[in-house]
Amino acid sequence: MAITNKLLLTDLASEAKYVPSNYVRPLSDRPNLSAVESSAAHSIPLIDLQDLHGPNHSQVIQQIGQACQVDGFFQVKNHGIAEEIVETMLRIAKEFFQMPEAERLKSYSDDPTKTTRLSTSFNVKTEKVSNWRDFLRLYCHPLEDYVHEWPSNPPSFREDVAKYCTSVRELVLRILGAISESLGLKRDSIEKALGKHGQHMALNYYPQCPEPELTYGLPGHTDPNLITVLLQDQVPGLQVLKNGKWVAVNPIPNTFIINIGDQMQVISNDRYKSVLHRAVVNSSMERLSVPTFYCPSPDAIVEPAKDLINEQNPAVYRSFTYADYYQKFWDRGLATECCLDLFKTDHKSM
Ligand code: OGA
Ligand code: NI
Repeated sequence: MAITNKLLLTDLASEAKYVPSNYVRPLSDRPNLSAVESSAAHSIPLIDLQDLHGPNHSQVIQQIGQACQVDGFFQVKNHGIAEEIVETMLRIAKEFFQMPEAERLKSYSDDPTKTTRLSTSFNVKTEKVSNWRDFLRLYCHPLEDYVHEWPSNPPSFREDVAKYCTSVRELVLRILGAISESLGLKRDSIEKALGKHGQHMALNYYPQCPEPELTYGLPGHTDPNLITVLLQDQVPGLQVLKNGKWVAVNPIPNTFIINIGDQMQVISNDRYKSVLHRAVVNSSMERLSVPTFYCPSPDAIVEPAKDLINEQNPAVYRSFTYADYYQKFWDRGLATECCLDLFKTDHKSM
């Protein structure tokens, strides 16, 4: 395959008949798509949030707790975010990636510390194999600190995305309350452990791929943040590791996918699991996903909740700042072994 000087995959993929060699995974690390479980019965739980504030409150809390413990993932319906806000978010994301290369490149940066940036793969500075993905990463809380950095094209981008962020934040806070309760903690205890809070999002664009068995959109990883709210379009691609097997989480209209991130695993002192997941690509359709990564603020001290620690359940993790953790995450790349081990109380440093 010819060497290209394209910064973004979008501008290379449209012509590609083969997967260029820098995207090809070694034989031992390929998607093996025929082995993926795709029946809905094996997928992650679907929880109806309608009853979260009604008479069946305690059942919903129990379902959420169970899902966090067993799957690390669940889907929610009747989540309270208007369909129009969601549709607009997906449409504007698509329009962004359809803009001419020169317009998109105005947002380009390969520096992971930048708070608004378009890039490709995962971390082009450190990784050996590339991923079949372009992404626009946006910090979005507090909105007024970041919105002026966001792309000003398409013209309604800032307004539409800001609306989406605000709605998702409200949903996250409701879910954090429910998760706190499910752990037997006060409703606001997780919310209060996050300092000033942080919220980032990504617009992930996975172009069609001529040889989807050779590469990943994103290889198996856990999310480094607290909790993720994922919106995906109608094209399958997300897979979650369940009992040692990859399971497809196929899109269900009007739902979000929620997953536990590394910080929630720490706060719950390993009761709730940050689970491996990955995105695969396909040869017939492009795919869009929009994860919201909710997180502590960089200076927040993260540690197992005091009320979950006692003689029988000693703290599995030491205290650390989220900034420390996040730095390690970007430096290490999407290694299957997540960074959590480095922060365990019994971790032996070299
Ligand atoms: C992520 C992620 C999955 C997807 O961005 O961390 O897991 O389906 N995305 O795009
Ligand atoms: Ni992820």
